[in-house]
Order: sequence, then C-alpha cells, then structure tokens
Amino acid sequence: MARGARTDAPPRTVTVATLAAMKRAGNPIACLTAYDYGFAAACERAGVDLLLVGDSLGMVVQGGETTLPVTVDDVVYHTRCVAAACRRALVVADMPFMSHPDPETGLHNAGRLMKEGGARMVKLEGGAEQAALVDRLAANGIPVCAHLGLQPQRVHKLGGYRVQGRDEDQAAGMERDALALEEAGADLLIVECVPTHLAARLSGALTIPVIGIGAGGGCDGQILVLHDALGVTTAPPRFAHDFCGDGRGVNGALAAYVEAVRARTFPGPEHGFEA
Ligand code: KIV
Repeated sequence: MARGARTDAPPRTVTVATLAAMKRAGNPIACLTAYDYGFAAACERAGVDLLLVGDSLGMVVQGGETTLPVTVDDVVYHTRCVAAACRRALVVADMPFMSHPDPETGLHNAGRLMKEGGARMVKLEGGAEQAALVDRLAANGIPVCAHLGLQPQRVHKLGGYRVQGRDEDQAAGMERDALALEEAGADLLIVECVPTHLAARLSGALTIPVIGIGAGGGCDGQILVLHDALGVTTAPPRFAHDFCGDGRGVNGALAAYVEAVRARTFPGPEHGFEA
C-alpha cells in the first residue's frame, strides 16, 4: 500500500473503479445530466455520483427538436463548464451524432472531449457495430459509457421516441449488443426506455454497471435529464419525476433525487414500462 494511503477514506473522486465497486456492493449509482457550472456545482453538493454532459443539450439548452445538430464543439464547451465545478462526480461527455463515423474520427473527437473539455469518460450510442470504436478508445485509455435501448440520435430511423426491446427477439439482440460492448472494453452502460424486466436482465448479465433512464428500478443506477428532474421541462417523459414539485428548492430537490435513487424508492412502478 502506498505510504499515507487510508483504506477507510471515502474516494475523493468517483472513478470507473468506484462505479464497479458500487455495483458489486449493491449501492445504487445516482446520475444526472448537467450542462453548466452552477447546476453542476449544485449536483456536486447534493452528492450526485456521475454527471453526463448529454447531447440532450441540443433540446433542453439550445431548444432544438432533436439532438442531431449538436456539435463536438458544443459538447466540449459545456463539458468544460461542468468539469470546472466537479471534484467528486465523474464527468462524462456525449459523442454527438456523426462524431464517430469511423474509429479514427471517433478517437480524435473523444480525445477532444477529454483534453479540451475535461471529461473523464465519453458516452456513445449504438450496439455491437460500435465495438471496434470502443476497443480503440479503451486501448487509448479513454473510459467508455455505451448507450442502448432508445437511442435519440436514431430518432428518424426509429420513427419516434419509443420504448425499445419489448419483444424477445429485440431483447435478446440488445443483450448480445450489451455483452459485445462490455467485451470490447466499455466501462458503463446506459439503457434508455426499455421494459423494466429487460433492464434488470441486462444488469444481471453484465459485470459493468447498468444505469437506467425509463428502465425501471432493477438497474445498478439511475440517470435523468436535469431539466426533467427539476420540473423545468413542460412535457416531461412519463418515466421522469419532478423532485422540485412538492415545494423543495433546487438544492432540496437534488438531494431528494440522490436519496431516492440510493433508497431505491425512485423509479417506482409507475415510471417503468412493461413488455
Ligand atoms: O443526452 C442525454 O442526456 C442522454 C441521457 C438521456 C442518458 O443520453
């Protein structure tokens, strides 16, 4: 053991090792999106474990209809703002639509998010077809969060924002994708808008932590878009909960969210989807 190291001290920062240990210990991981310094600092004070600078910024910050127009420069800028506030929370930056058409371009842009933005992990949507990129990133020391289920960057291909993996063929395909991404070196998986039983199945099948959004209470952790969690969104998705809604201020709402994820009281059955 290194001189001066303390085995009982809480970790100063959340790392991929921390997340893996939380999964092994059965301690739920509380995650939110963030886009700027002030809210990232509030999330940090509330004890949020992971902050994702999602390309959802194209909708909740820029007012777009989809996430597709978001650029690498946009994510670099917002990641820098969020990273400036974070000492403990793990800052994850999203790879925007068409930022990784091939592994070399993906490696270059992921490198920008880490070097210029200050991210400590990147997230990318897609299944087994992204395994070569995940492998390349991992080989270069870039931690990766994969993203399955509803993939908003494919909204036009999907024909809308719909629950994914309702039938067994789709569910089995998603499990194969998840295992391929883990095998390629992904450190974390986000599953969005999938039936509760499927998200629990993926969490059980994978060694890496699985974070759910609209995926029920059986995951290793939860994430919400910050604007949905604070009741800012005018038409929030059914799986969200407004933690500001009962008169708490922003700081109280963020603390209530972390507490509810850790106590597994959020999400409730009313926030999940059946097959
Ligand atoms: O972009 C985003 O905010 C996301 C979350 C919804 C997981 O991908």
